[in-house]
Amino acid sequence: MSQALGGRHDKPGRMDESEQLKQVEPGQVRIAEPGCHQRGIEQQQWCIGGGDNRLTLADRLGCPVAVTQPAAGMAGMDRGQGQSSAGHIHRDRTELERRARAGQAVDRGASPVQRQSMTNPARNALIARLPKAELHLHIEGSLEPELLFALAQRNGVSIPFDSVEAVRAAYSFSNLQDFLDIYYQGMSVLLTEQDFYDLTWAYLERAADDNVRHVEIFFDPQGHTERGVAFDTVVDGIERALKQGEAELGISYRLIMCFLRHLSEDEAFATLEQALPHLHRIHGVGLDSSEVGHPPAKFQRVFAKARELGLHVTAHAGEEGPPEYVHEALDLLEVERIDHGNRALEDAALVQRIAEEGLTLTVCPLSNLRLCVIGDIAESPVRRMLDLSLKATVNSDDPAYFGGYINDNFRAIADALDLSEAEIVKLVENSFTGSFLPMADQIQHLAEIAEVAGGR
Ligand code: ADE
Ligand code: ZN
Repeated sequence: MSQALGGRHDKPGRMDESEQLKQVEPGQVRIAEPGCHQRGIEQQQWCIGGGDNRLTLADRLGCPVAVTQPAAGMAGMDRGQGQSSAGHIHRDRTELERRARAGQAVDRGASPVQRQSMTNPARNALIARLPKAELHLHIEGSLEPELLFALAQRNGVSIPFDSVEAVRAAYSFSNLQDFLDIYYQGMSVLLTEQDFYDLTWAYLERAADDNVRHVEIFFDPQGHTERGVAFDTVVDGIERALKQGEAELGISYRLIMCFLRHLSEDEAFATLEQALPHLHRIHGVGLDSSEVGHPPAKFQRVFAKARELGLHVTAHAGEEGPPEYVHEALDLLEVERIDHGNRALEDAALVQRIAEEGLTLTVCPLSNLRLCVIGDIAESPVRRMLDLSLKATVNSDDPAYFGGYINDNFRAIADALDLSEAEIVKLVENSFTGSFLPMADQIQHLAEIAEVAGGR
């Protein structure tokens, strides 16, 4: 399979014991976000992933939502009636089911967004009016519980929740892996081209409300092809919505295909090969999923091939992983920007390099809070990045799971970090200059920002 791309590349990922997931130990927790410690103990008892990256994707997808009837119009599906949407492997108790049974309605009080957004109406109005680009958005992470329910019904997929509220209540995470277990299971309702279109269109309409003018969207093909959904089905649906969004909402776009880093290099090569007939409509590659234990080095050769094919390259680095992973993303993958990059701040030489090279960091404040990367929104790295003249941007990552879209993220940090209007303007400027748009388009967006900012 991977021969056309240069043969097999077996190279095991390094597992640095000392850098295992920043598991939240009982007694070691930060308290600002209730989910960060409330889920810590439970997770040790039940969580199927819990940072154990030896699980295959099929394991992860194993029967969170069993298909009770074959769905109509399932292009590319190859499974019999009654099989799980993941294919073959069934698991008695999935993370979604466990949460549903536990009725996990954690009283989280006011959400960070609710707590933060009332304090400065003028600043909030500026945030709303400014045109912006979103550079870090996983389209599968924009699957709102309402759409999850609707798609489950349309496709005859059963889910272990009886209300949208129950789903939302289960979205309480103590680390990245904890979230990913749910995220992959949620994907199981996405089966047809129409599903991927509906998902993407819903995000675009919501983004338009926030004055988003350009999006660079991640998608995870391996999360779908492993379930028997054809690569074309995924890209066709997403692209149809993106084209419509450009025509009707004035939102330009780039599409970035991510490799799941907990899977093998060979599987990444196979995915790149599947993408070959679609290279006219895929603009870049990214690297996401469980970070710790899966350093960028594992994907050096597949990224080299992607660059050779003319694709843009970016990678999640320094979300939970150490600064060394950011170094590797730069040195070995030759990324054009860094997704998250929080832990780069631990390394002064790295900070200097990021500043000197003008590299863009796609920071996701509410994601960081919900995944316990930070203990409080006031700890968002955006403050230090701005102070260090690093090119930070603000993004929503997986808004359906983390409780806020891009303007919610802006408002949350604007209040918590007491951002000046000039700093907010800088952040939206960075979103365009850090994008993969041609320079002429960037300049046009900057002019519009200046107009809006000048009139404040
Ligand atoms: N996939 C979706 N969201 C992610 C995140 N925040 N980090 C890594 N992989 C992801
Ligand atoms: Zn992400």
